[in-house]
Parts: sequence; structure tokens; C-alpha cells
Amino acid sequence: MNEQELVKQTAKHVEALFSGEGSGHDWWHIRRVWQNALKIGQQEKADLLIVQLGALLHDIADWKFHGGDEEAGPREAAKWLRSLQAPEHIITKVCQIIREVSYKGAGVDTEPSTLEAAVVQDADRLDAIGAIGVGRAFAYGGHKNREMYNPHIMPQLHASFEEYKKNSGPTINHFYEKLFLLKDRLNTSTGLQMAEERNNFMKQFVRQFLAEWHPEEDIPESFHV
Ligand code: ADP
Ligand code: NI
Repeated sequence: MNEQELVKQTAKHVEALFSGEGSGHDWWHIRRVWQNALKIGQQEKADLLIVQLGALLHDIADWKFHGGDEEAGPREAAKWLRSLQAPEHIITKVCQIIREVSYKGAGVDTEPSTLEAAVVQDADRLDAIGAIGVGRAFAYGGHKNREMYNPHIMPQLHASFEEYKKNSGPTINHFYEKLFLLKDRLNTSTGLQMAEERNNFMKQFVRQFLAEWHPEEDIPESFHV
């Protein structure tokens, strides 16, 4: 199977698996990450086959397993790629990307080991910020029955992945705990450029949200943007 066909078949497969997911991990998320990864990958001169397969398969574990088993994603991806007779050296690189893209909390280092992993991680993070990031955060919060905001619950920075996962605070806190931190954690200059506008918009959104909620002097210190 040629490279183009490998990407096309994988996109079709992932679209079929994810259609109808309501928790922020729908096919459209995957598609946006794929398209942005392609754009960043072109600029950064990355291997576009690895980038595209990594982007398409980066959340494959979430379709079935929802966290827990760290190897579930790489295992599913490898199984799929082997069924298409993809070369092993490609499968190895794609699986490594899947291990490296996910965000594990403010205090946890997730340095990508290849340019291709860096590109996919940036594309995934871009999709968590900006207007789409705002939409996804509230969609996730609604799915989990979270409050939008609570002036008595302050945001916290999580030192470990365990702590980050346990968190069940209001959705606005997620901006301070993760979303505002992402811009400074992007790997590529192309990603950083794309993040600038999205980050500004997101800050503007939170400022406006708090201004509508509180008179200026009542906004708690921890929520100043
Ligand atoms: P990804 O790495 O693909 O962005 P995540 O599982 O980390 O996937 O998150 C999926 C989406 O849900 C992201 O947009 C993220 O910001 C949002 N999200 C995750 N945790 C929370 C939370 N506690 N509150 C609000 N939104 C969240
Ligand atoms: Ni993702």
C-alpha cells in the first residue's frame, strides 16, 4: 500500500471509530489535529507520513479504553497498521508519538523525542486553546456535570498526573490549570505562531466571563488574567 493510501485508509478507519463521541474526542477533534499537524509538519520539514499517522491515531485509546492502560493506544495503532502491512519502522515511530503526545499536568515533563512527535503534540495542544478550546472545555465540563465557575474554589497547579486526573473543579479553573499554560509549552515556532492569537482570545474570553460574573473588585486574586 502506498503512503497516500495508508493515510487515507487510516483516516477512514478512525472516522468510523470516533463518529458520535460526545466527550470532546470526536472525529472532528482528530481531523483538526491531523490538518494542523500537516500544516506545522510542512513548515517544520517533518516526515509527513509519520506526522499524519501519528495525528490520526493519537487518541485511539480513548475510543474504547478511556485512560488507565498507557499501552492501549500504541497497541491498537500497531494492530491497525499491521493489518495494512505498514513497515515496522513506521509503526514503531507512530506508536512512540502516541505515547508522547498526551498532557499529564503542569508539573510533568512530556518532552517529545522526535520532530514528528513535537509536531503532533503541538497540533493536539492547539486544539485545546482558542475558541475551540473554550468550546471543548465547556463541553467536557458539561459531560462531567461540573460547575462553570465557583468563586470559592481556587485553581491549583497539579504536580503529578494522578493529581491532575483526580481533579474535578469548575471548568474555568481548567484554564488556569492547563489551558493558559499550553502556549509556553509548544515545541515548534510554527505552533507557537498559531497559538498566539488563540491564547489571546481565550484570555479575553475568561476576562469577559469574570467581568460579567463579578464587579471588578470582587474577582479573586487567583483568577486575575
Ligand atoms: P487532548 O489531549 O486530546 O486535548 P484531553 O483528554 O486532555 O485530550 O482533553 C480533551 C478536551 O477536554 C480538551 O479540550 C481539554 O482541555 C478538555 N478538558 C480536559 N480536562 C478538563 C477539565 N477538567 N475541565 C474542562 N475541560 C477539560
Ligand atoms: Ni487529542
